Parts: sequence; structure tokens; C-alpha cells
Amino acid sequence: AFQSVPLAPPDAILNLNTLYKADTYPKKINVGVGAYRDEDGKPWVLPVVKKAECAIVEDASLDHEYLPIDGLRTFTDASAKLILGKNSPAVLENRFGGIQTISGSGAVRLGADFLNRWRKAPVYISNPTWGNHHDIFRDAGLDVHTYPYWNPEVRGLALKGMLDTIKGAPKGSIFVLHPCAHNPTGVDPTPDEWKLIAEAIRAGAHFPFFDCAYQGFASGDLDKDAAAVRYFVEEGFELLVAQSYSKNIGLYGERTGCLTIVTKSADLVPNVRSQMCKLQRASISNPPAFGARIVSMILNDEQLFAEWTQQLKIMANRIIHMRTVLFALLTELGTPGTWNHIVDQIGMFTFTGLNAAQVKVLRDTYHIYLTDNGRISMAGLNTHNIRTFAEAVDFVVRN
Ligand code: LMR
Repeated sequence: AFQSVPLAPPDAILNLNTLYKADTYPKKINVGVGAYRDEDGKPWVLPVVKKAECAIVEDASLDHEYLPIDGLRTFTDASAKLILGKNSPAVLENRFGGIQTISGSGAVRLGADFLNRWRKAPVYISNPTWGNHHDIFRDAGLDVHTYPYWNPEVRGLALKGMLDTIKGAPKGSIFVLHPCAHNPTGVDPTPDEWKLIAEAIRAGAHFPFFDCAYQGFASGDLDKDAAAVRYFVEEGFELLVAQSYSKNIGLYGERTGCLTIVTKSADLVPNVRSQMCKLQRASISNPPAFGARIVSMILNDEQLFAEWTQQLKIMANRIIHMRTVLFALLTELGTPGTWNHIVDQIGMFTFTGLNAAQVKVLRDTYHIYLTDNGRISMAGLNTHNIRTFAEAVDFVVRN
């Protein structure tokens, strides 16, 4: 049965962790996978998460029974309100719902499975995008296309190409959008550009599907990072939003996420929810409880919520600071080229512009791990390793 199975290539992002761990060089640097690290290069368990965990462990009323198929309702309701805003028309008119998922990837997959079954259409993802988008939508059975996103000449948004593709796509296509901190480019449309994108999506009767992995993590401001989704809702769109708590609450391995649905009217929500539950039951049965309990506690308690937003700002600001330091170092070294995109881009990643050959030298000679497309996770840099990193970049750019 297995003789004809070829070996699959390793995952372009997660395999970097394996290579990094196997490397015995003491000054190795991991700027591959998008996971927050503190000033000492260590994962950071947010103090507010520790608090919530202790409370959960001590709560004698909690057990290990199954959650409902659509997850913990206090978690999914709070998640929907977090992204849509408490005063969103969708919330006030009760035309929203949420399904708890295996983090953001699971939310994208559930949304893709749902669309494949109930609203099949070509799906357009940005070029470039998070590599897993290609596989998720293809495996869900959808026909995957791309829209231009990155303009290498200006190291910014390819707005015209993006709008032209939206306008030229078959009526009713699905458009996957990153509402903030675009992965991998760190380039987001401005509010005015979002207006043009929304207009083009409306004109084509397309369906917007937001993948939001970085709310609050990008700017340190939860509302600002949700602005694009909220704008589409105010404009009357029906949509899906995949939410992840991997980065903004640091629950990577707990696989805690939500697929939020916005419909035109409240009566449509139970039908959509029921069909999503059928898909969920057939893939994971029901979602895991621990991470959802932590998030539910934080989102539904004023004091814990306030603590979380402070800790979120610490992460966002450290990353923003690393951008400034890296830019200053490359300027000081006189590294050829322009580097202001490092401070202009936002979120976890900088799309450096380094090519695959340069990335290989960084890995083989300098023990610096980043994806082949030149993306670096800013969280992997800290005041101890950033000069070494800048000098290595300087070397590969000059040679
Ligand atoms: C990344 O892009 O590095 C993260 O979203 C982690 C992942 O799952 O790929």
C-alpha cells in the first residue's frame, strides 16, 4: 500500500525549527518561524496567561468532558466581539457567530471546507502569502489563484495589480485578505486603500475571507488592527474571519482559534453554524478545552483584559524597537541598498528583499535561519544578537 508514496518536502517554515535545534553553534539565530521571543531569545508565557492557568487548575467545578462541537460559547462570543467590536452592527443585530477551531490554520481550513461545500468559487490568495494558504485551500478542494500584493520595486503594496485582479476575477470569487500585519511582507493597505479594495470586491460580488493572526500584535492596539474587518462589516459585507491566539496571547501549542461568521441577517446564523458543526465533527469531532478556557477568562474579565493589553503592548513595542535598531545598524554599516522598509513594515515579519542565495549563505555560514523568501521574524532578534545579524546581512549584500 505504501510503496508508491514519495517523500514529501519538509515544511518551508516549521522545518527551520528542526534545523535550528540541531545546530550546535552557540551564536545561532532563529528568525524563521513567527513566534515571539523575549530579550533573551526565550518564549514568553504572558503573566496574565499564568494567572488564568492557575485559576483553571484550581477551579474544582471544571472537568475534562467534551466541549460542544462548536466549542466554548463564552470563548467564541468574546472572540467575535474582539474582532468585530462590541458595537459592531453585526453584534448589535445578532448576525454573527463563532466556531472554535484548531487555531488560525484550523479556522482557515474550516472556512475553506465550508465554502467548498456551500459556496464553491475560485479562491484568490495574495502573492506572496503564508505558504500554508496554498495547501489549505487546495486540499479543501478549491481552485486556487493569486492576486498581486508585493511590488518589489517600491517594496510596498502592488495596489493596482491587486485591484485589477479583483476586478477581473470571475463574479463571486473568494478573496482571502490579511487584515493586519500581512504575512510575509509586513505591508498593509492604508484605510483609503482598503476602501478601494472593498469597492472592487463589492463590484465583483466577491466574498471576503479574512485571516487575522496578529490582532493587537501588529500595532499594540486591538481596535486599530481590526479596522479593516470592521470597515467591511460596516459596509454591509457578509464574511468569514479566521482568528488565532497563537501570537497575541502566546498560546501557540494550545491551538486556540475561532472562525467568526458575519451574515446579512440573524436567522442565517444557525444554519451556517449547523453546517460548520457537521464539517467540524467529521474532522476533529470537537475542539480542545484548555486554551479556550484561558482566552475566555482573559477576554471576559475586565481586570485580566487590561493586563493582557499591557502585555500585548510589551511584545509589539519590543518588535517595533528591534526594527529601529536593525535599521540604525544597517545605516551605520553603510549596507548597500535602501532599508527603510524595515521600519515601515509592521507586525512579526520583515520582508527583507534578500534572495534565496543570500538566505543560504546566512544559514550555511552564519547559522542564521530564515525562510527562503527572505522573510525574517523580528521577534527572533534582541539586543544581544542584532549586531551579529546586521553584520551578516551586510556581508551577504556586499558579496
Ligand atoms: C509563521 O508564518 O511563521 C507562523 O504563522 C507559523 C506557522 O504556522 O507557519
